[in-house]
Amino acid sequence: MSSPRLSAARMLQEILEKKLFLSDVRSQLDSLQEQDKAFAHMLVLTALRRLCSVKKQLKIHIKKKLPAKAKIAEYLLIMATVEILYLNTPSYAVLNTYVELVKKQTDKYIAGFVNAVLRKIATAENAPLSENDTFFPDNFIKLLRQSYGIKTIRKMEQAALSEPALDISVKDNPEHWAKTLRGTLLAGGTIRLHDNAPVPSLSGFSEGAWWVQDFAASLAVKSLLPQLNNRHVLDICAAPGGKTAQLLAYGAKVTALDVSGPRLQTLRQNLERLKLSAERIICADAIEYLSNFQDAPFDDILLDAPCSATGTLRRHPEIVHLKTAADIAKQASLQKQILQHVSKALKIGGRLVYCTCSLDKSEGEAQIKSFLKENDNFAIIPISIHDCPQELCTEEGFLRVLPCHLSETGGADGFFIALLQRIK
Ligand SMILES: C[S@@+](CC[C@H](N)C(=O)[O-])C[C@H]1O[C@@H](n2cnc3c(N)ncnc32)[C@H](O)[C@@H]1O
Repeated sequence: MSSPRLSAARMLQEILEKKLFLSDVRSQLDSLQEQDKAFAHMLVLTALRRLCSVKKQLKIHIKKKLPAKAKIAEYLLIMATVEILYLNTPSYAVLNTYVELVKKQTDKYIAGFVNAVLRKIATAENAPLSENDTFFPDNFIKLLRQSYGIKTIRKMEQAALSEPALDISVKDNPEHWAKTLRGTLLAGGTIRLHDNAPVPSLSGFSEGAWWVQDFAASLAVKSLLPQLNNRHVLDICAAPGGKTAQLLAYGAKVTALDVSGPRLQTLRQNLERLKLSAERIICADAIEYLSNFQDAPFDDILLDAPCSATGTLRRHPEIVHLKTAADIAKQASLQKQILQHVSKALKIGGRLVYCTCSLDKSEGEAQIKSFLKENDNFAIIPISIHDCPQELCTEEGFLRVLPCHLSETGGADGFFIALLQRIK
């Protein structure tokens, strides 16, 4: 039978060495029982969040490099250290289990070495305290320094160390669902759940009463309220459809477009479960689609642009180890190109919501400022959402959500939202 610990170590190795996302390597868990799957998944997430501190600890005790054929032993050592330092697994159990795993995967000499290192880790007095842990590697801090001061970065880092809560958006009656699901009602009607039962088993899911959507992500569509009923809205980059569902629930007539066929299939399934229907669902490249318009038929456009997704680092901690300045520049260039074509499809007087789940200002504030400089037919509408915490509103009228915001209720994903109007 496969071991969840070995699967977790292999997943971490693939993520870091092949630069893959956790979702790309989840098939490593296929052969495990449900409970082991959940444990291995939690182990990988904790290892990704604590990697910098764990590596620092291991460096104190490892003076020589392991041979290349014993690479897996390095990852098993990381997992074992995570268990000792962060999961409170008794040290004797960690030592027995991991030394045995290393012996099976390599040889008795490497196993002996691992045994010696783990003994030192288990008795070390310089183990990191959780509050002093560093989550972000230096390269990621360097990226964030383009947009934020170090104090804000450290606040985001601390906030992102804990497992984020699950937020849901409901079709209607948020008070009822908050009570039924014993959740907390946040500004604008998002419900924050404290139950970590599997999502499909929760009340209202199979009837299509709600869908999973982080609080920050839910604000983009809300910036168009109260005028949404019966408006023709183009949802560019729509899949998997969280914001399409919101638009439909508020009564808009939606054309949902995305370049990815498989992701649109998920959007279709989501809308079907929610008993909501879009006017049209189109699989196409946004730039090609927008280029063909002669008239400008849409009342509003939502551009939830492809981005570096650094704002989702609480749920996808691998992001901090993988994203580079080149990834961000590539996404910013695509966003700029899509933005340049938007006015062809938007009526004069119509509104454009531009949003990204990136922390980088080149994909948010700077992108929109440069767009406005080159397109004097658009102007900012300052965003006003009922009950929206003031800390999210910028001087320019944008919304900027950071993982350290909403700290008293458990944080939020990083997000940028701008609301513009085509004025001529
Ligand atoms: C941030 S996700 C959208 C999330 C979605 N709006 C929601 O709320 O569920 C960005 C989407 O952009 C799509 N995309 C990327 N490049 C595109 C392009 N050139 N044209 C259209 N869609 C594109 C991706 O397939 C992805 O589904």
